[in-house]
Amino acid sequence: MLHVASAVAKKIGDCPNLRVQAVGHTNGYARFMGFFRELGIPGEGDAAPPENHENYLPIQTLNLRQVRADAERRDLAPGQLIDRHTRSIARTLVRQNYGPLWETIQYALREIIRNAAEHSRCDNVLYCGQFWPTLNKVEVAIIDEGIGIGRSLQENPLVAGMDEFDTLRMSLKPGISGVRYPGAHYDERNVWANSGFGLYVVSELCRRGGSFTVLSGSSGICVSADGESRVVSSHAGTALRLVIDTSNLRSIAASLALIVAKGEQIAREQDIGGSSASGASKQVFD
Ligand SMILES: Nc1ncnc2c1ncn2[C@@H]1O[C@H](COP(=O)(O)OP(=O)(O)OP(=O)(O)O)[C@@H](O)[C@H]1O
Ligand SMILES: [Mg+2]
Repeated sequence: MLHVASAVAKKIGDCPNLRVQAVGHTNGYARFMGFFRELGIPGEGDAAPPENHENYLPIQTLNLRQVRADAERRDLAPGQLIDRHTRSIARTLVRQNYGPLWETIQYALREIIRNAAEHSRCDNVLYCGQFWPTLNKVEVAIIDEGIGIGRSLQENPLVAGMDEFDTLRMSLKPGISGVRYPGAHYDERNVWANSGFGLYVVSELCRRGGSFTVLSGSSGICVSADGESRVVSSHAGTALRLVIDTSNLRSIAASLALIVAKGEQIAREQDIGGSSASGASKQVFD
């Protein structure tokens, strides 16, 4: 829905004289989720929530320009502000603010929204989600219209000469970053310094019973327990869909310990530049 809203809104933006109208959607799901509001259709500001609305997180926008400015003014890393913000998003979505489910969703949202703030060069990131307690499933979508993963990684010599799809595949590997790569300066002491582990860890969390889909530029990949498959679609910027199986979740600290240890080993074996995860991507904060 976010992907379609973004594509249609772009078309509308490109054609200033276009008149757009929505018909026959009065109390539907898409309306409540803010789909039509996102397209800028007049009168779409305040759709009534459906009965079980607490399971939905309608489309929200986080102003990244503001986040970056606030962080600078308060001498914080953008990730610290996003950490706080995603605590409350996760609470709204899963209706609890502690325990493995909340921690896992908060971590995943934090890492993906942080990526938009740190790498997309875009002013806004949009997200929405849904929690199905009886199906043991949470789904969230996060989208930005920034430079995309391929362009952001272009300085990294480990992806030199690769096409867009292979570069996107590489971005999911542990230690691959547009900021930390052989020859680039890296501050080991800064917990918020990028180490190239965020996408790897989040995709590993999702693939255990759920799935992780990323579209960027004209390439897309879906990762699940069945392996990796190519997605034929495109998005100017970066769009992610995370599906998380909520049954049998471990505490996030336990999950991170296992996933990060495996990732650091893969990075060492494959001789990927950064073989240790940054402080932030391997921990959650109290
Ligand atoms: N939304 C995005 N827009 C543009 N580029 C992105 C985006 N998300 C990820 N990337 C690119 O993919 C790379 C890998 O992302 P990943 O989250 O795995 O590592 P990182 O952000 O560099 O480090 P860490 O997550 O450990 O702090 C990033 O360094 C960046 O180049
Ligand atoms: Mg990251």
